[in-house]
Amino acid sequence: MELIIENGILVTGRDIFKADIMLKNGKIAAIGSDFAEQPGERINADGKYIMPGAVDVHTHIDLQAGDYHTSDDFFTGTRAALCGGTTTVVEHLAFGPEGCSLRSRINEYKTAAKDKAVSDYGLHGVIQHVDADILREMGELAAEGISSFKIYMTYDFALADADILRVLEKGGELGTVTAVHCENDSIINYLRGRFAAENKKTPFYHALSRPAECETEAVCRVLRLAHMAGDAPIYIVHLSTEGGLNAVREARARGQRNIYTETCPQYLLLDENCYSNRDAVKYIMSPPLRKAADQAALWKGLSDGSIDIIATDHCPFSTADKLRGERDFTECPNGAPGVEERVMAIFSAGVAGGKITLNKFVETLCINPSRIYGLYPRKGNLLPGSDADIMIINEKGETDFSGAGLHGSAGYSLYGQKKMTGRMDTVIRRGDIVYAEDRFIGQKGTGLFIERRICR
Ligand code: URP
Ligand code: ZN
Ligand code: ZN
Repeated sequence: MELIIENGILVTGRDIFKADIMLKNGKIAAIGSDFAEQPGERINADGKYIMPGAVDVHTHIDLQAGDYHTSDDFFTGTRAALCGGTTTVVEHLAFGPEGCSLRSRINEYKTAAKDKAVSDYGLHGVIQHVDADILREMGELAAEGISSFKIYMTYDFALADADILRVLEKGGELGTVTAVHCENDSIINYLRGRFAAENKKTPFYHALSRPAECETEAVCRVLRLAHMAGDAPIYIVHLSTEGGLNAVREARARGQRNIYTETCPQYLLLDENCYSNRDAVKYIMSPPLRKAADQAALWKGLSDGSIDIIATDHCPFSTADKLRGERDFTECPNGAPGVEERVMAIFSAGVAGGKITLNKFVETLCINPSRIYGLYPRKGNLLPGSDADIMIINEKGETDFSGAGLHGSAGYSLYGQKKMTGRMDTVIRRGDIVYAEDRFIGQKGTGLFIERRICR
């Protein structure tokens, strides 16, 4: 029941200090230096960092996309999350049959996760059409812990601008966050058609069919719509371009409130040169990888506070499925694994690489995702009373994502060629040690659905 972590270096969004931490009944009980007489199991974390369990608010662990299904289910996907230090995920529902209700999708996902998940999890409602029933359901579900809704400006269920405005207005009224995939669908379809006619179908053209301007334009447009909706809370997912980032900065500078932003490790660590690799198909994702200048801008955006969150967009497909797009990128399921790699990839490239501070690391991986998505102070936090979700990182270790050690089902990592500085030492979820000595030791089905609050 009691676990004491001794001699570690605690990192919060503001401070870094040596202290011991006592966990009791799944909660953080106390932080201090006087637990010598306390009974309980002990972990000696001498010289290691003690941080809140990370929160990943953008996963597609269990997703049917056309003919393809992600390689993970809620067991393997959340196992990978835990082994990488992420103790809570917030999953985006897949599109359902045309005209389906929001509640039916939420219920399906709750059933899929219930006996399988090992990390804790929340769900974003995904809105694929807009009518009076959907707007009513948004209110009902918000009261049941679904405090955010996702919309797409591209793909099969892209919403028209007027429908986006209706969702934003409803979100503003309820206080829910509207997460938006921003790309200009019409231009992408035009470019895809043009490349197909010219027989330009290799993965390289995937990136060219989704240029940076498509993201920038869509970010600008949706920010204006959120402003029209009375500065309704809006969250730009997987920001990948300097142009999109500048559009966010400009909107904030104009005085628009309630704008939140996310980027992902792939846009920080990898660039468009990957589409010239032999395994280019593995990097087919939307938006695509960008230029080195975009990467530099995103790192700057993190350190100056323009970007709030680093999430993953974890959307893993098997190598066999990805290879279906080798000769025609339009046949390739979009997305890549990343939920296990996120924390150590950012620790290595960001903290060890001198691009962000340790405090910023905790802010963008733990605190901000928790705050913006209604999990705070229960998750992403090292205060007494919060869930005892903790990751212990050894900065002197190394991490290698090249193969057998991975805990998801895709069988590969985008970061397999990179040696990472630092190593995940131990992960604790609600007081239970679930990862230690390089092994997953959690129990299937022990993850909890977390009702998220509305953060006005
Ligand atoms: O390529 C991606 N990112 N696939 C997952 C769906 C999405 O757009 O987030
Ligand atoms: Zn997306
Ligand atoms: Zn996504």
